[in-house]
Amino acid sequence: MGRAGDYFAARGDALTDADNGRENVTHDTRDRQWFKVPGLRNVALTAPYFHDGSVTDLREAVRKMAQYQLGATLSDADVDALTAFLNSLTGAYRPTAAPTAVPTSAPSPALAAQP
Ligand code: HEM
Repeated sequence: MGRAGDYFAARGDALTDADNGRENVTHDTRDRQWFKVPGLRNVALTAPYFHDGSVTDLREAVRKMAQYQLGATLSDADVDALTAFLNSLTGAYRPTAAPTAVPTSAPSPALAAQP
């Protein structure tokens, strides 16, 4: 998170274990602050957004994505259009239990075999 800008510095508060992202699973410091791109199906129903749950409004998540991942400032019209598209991805929603902790297990054999 933060290809085009320092998301964590802008967020301002202290870093947490969750902010380490993929490193929590691989134990490889090169994976620090790398995050899975989430599926966006039903995203309008799944606030709060991002790995830290720091954004409650979908329009704000769209603006932050453009800023920190694309280095772009969106017009209100573009935010409206992108948010309308994301709202169109809403269908049947069956929530699952939220995880209570970041993964701490050893990497899978497939990951461990990577160079
Ligand atoms: C305007 C274009 C984009 C839109 C509208 C968009 C939309 C979103 C939304 C709504 C989320 C939150 C999903 C959730 O937490 O459930 C998200 C997360 C994410 N997106 Fe984007 N995205 C855009 C561009 C990008 C690009 C270009 C990249 C990668 C180069 C990217 C990578 C990610 C990642 C890694 C996350 C998870 C971040 C985290 O958990 O902290 N996105 N995106």
